Amino acid sequence: MIDKIFVEGILSKQLGLAGEEVVGRIEIPTTSANGDFAFPCFRLSKQLKKSPNEIAADFATRIKDSSIDRVEAKGGYLNIYLKRDAFVKDALKTLKAFGTKKHTEGKGKTITIDYSSINIAKPFHIGHLMSTAIGGSLYKIYEYLGYTVVGVNHLGDWGTQFGKQIVAYKEWGDKQDIEKRGVASLVELYQKFHEEAKKRPELDQQARDWFKKIEDGTDKEATQLFNWFKDLSLTEAKKTYERLGIVFDSYNGEAFYSDKIPAVVEELRAKKLLEHSQGAECVKLDELDMPPCLVLKDDGASLYATRDLACAKYRKSTYGFYKNLYVVAYQQALHFRQVFAVLGKMGYEWNKDCVHIQFGMVSIEGGGSLSTRAGNIVFLEDVLNAATQKALDTINNKNPKLVEKEKVAEQVGIGAIVFGVLCGSRIKDVSFSLEKALNFDGETGPYLQYTFVRCKSILKKLDKKLLSGTVDAKHIADESSFELAKLLVRTDEIASEAGEKYEPSILTRHLIDIAKAFNRFYLQNRIVGESDAVAKARAALTQYTATVLKKGMQLILLGTPEEM
Ligand code: ARG
Repeated sequence: MIDKIFVEGILSKQLGLAGEEVVGRIEIPTTSANGDFAFPCFRLSKQLKKSPNEIAADFATRIKDSSIDRVEAKGGYLNIYLKRDAFVKDALKTLKAFGTKKHTEGKGKTITIDYSSINIAKPFHIGHLMSTAIGGSLYKIYEYLGYTVVGVNHLGDWGTQFGKQIVAYKEWGDKQDIEKRGVASLVELYQKFHEEAKKRPELDQQARDWFKKIEDGTDKEATQLFNWFKDLSLTEAKKTYERLGIVFDSYNGEAFYSDKIPAVVEELRAKKLLEHSQGAECVKLDELDMPPCLVLKDDGASLYATRDLACAKYRKSTYGFYKNLYVVAYQQALHFRQVFAVLGKMGYEWNKDCVHIQFGMVSIEGGGSLSTRAGNIVFLEDVLNAATQKALDTINNKNPKLVEKEKVAEQVGIGAIVFGVLCGSRIKDVSFSLEKALNFDGETGPYLQYTFVRCKSILKKLDKKLLSGTVDAKHIADESSFELAKLLVRTDEIASEAGEKYEPSILTRHLIDIAKAFNRFYLQNRIVGESDAVAKARAALTQYTATVLKKGMQLILLGTPEEM
């Protein structure tokens, strides 16, 4: 395959460069005017006592390969231009095998991903969208790369707030309303608790007592109510997960670790890491310039961090992870630094394999028009509904006879939202409008879907005999075909880079580039009305575009309708 590794091989062999001087240093110029591959010569300048451009000029005279058209020195770079037909011929082989072989990158390695991780009896709101989409996409990417992936929804299902929820239910709750409106009803009750507790402080004590009962697990009513809240919340959340095409292998949340806390505390004590501070117990992290990590409250109750310590140990011993990822908002950066640092002090070197994958905030422009079910909070489900409805309106306008309209509208509407959060680098705050996200022409989810549909419909209309047999690369060696082929063959490399950097947006951008390149290719190269040989070659490239787009879109959680 003619890729970066292939070029590295040529450079090290023909220029006599050592491995570390070339490996990982080949770049792909953003514009083909600067070559199809480029090698920066700046680092060699000192050692060879020549200017980067002199080095590049010298190298340029020494490189020869049947796949290379010419090599030029420019601005300290060695720019390599491929022979288009040789490259396309090679690309066709790679593309034919695309998606058929199992990737080996992740063989024998397990990655645990903690994502979405919603809180019980709290809204599954738009703020959870980033974690859910980024984590869900990384899950698919790692799976594609051959890793064993364990997706965990680390539920927020522990703490005094559940005592408060019980008190509120018993004081003002209406079973039927809760059954009807689910979490929205629970959220209102919880808010009422806080208002009332200002006037009646005894409610707080009652809440603590109820939570104690949940903790003991001996009080039937407490356990029943707690489980009811949990079931309600999960049933609701699972509907959204299904719509997003997201799966979890475990729903072990904070409550799951409650019986594993004593052992962790014992261990911290035995390792002499626990210190008293104002009645509470903590692990000091002064030497790492961090505030102490609180482990036990003055009443002996565990904290969020304590449960995460138990959880990380559990994940290591249960799954033997190669990496343990937490897709959680940047606001929790200190929390995770503390947890990982405490694990380090406990002697667990695998703390270096624990990674907090941070992201910014998401908001929807004009979100004020979205309904709020409880306490001014926009539920994610309502955002998905609004997008789906808008997509349906567009379809009714443009293509009212489309079969399975509702299904397609769902794929397009949800695709628009998911794309909106996966298209930019994750640490940036995202704000997008439903209008723009649903635009079929912009850089959007629907644009990718539309391009895929376009490929499919072109192929459907063709004579079957054009879709098989050998393809002569010389018919697709023009610039736009070549540029498209160049992008298509890089998809696996890009998926791997997205996984390595925990950044699905790298793949999202790549797919947009492919879609644009395809639309350019198709504008310049008709298929119908050409000789069979030409039509066949262009049809093959169209077919490969469809295959690559489909796989790529699955990896970023986009549905791939065949018509729209
Ligand atoms: N439930 C938490 C929240 O909504 C996120 C949990 C993240 N995972 C973890 N292991 N701490 O903020």
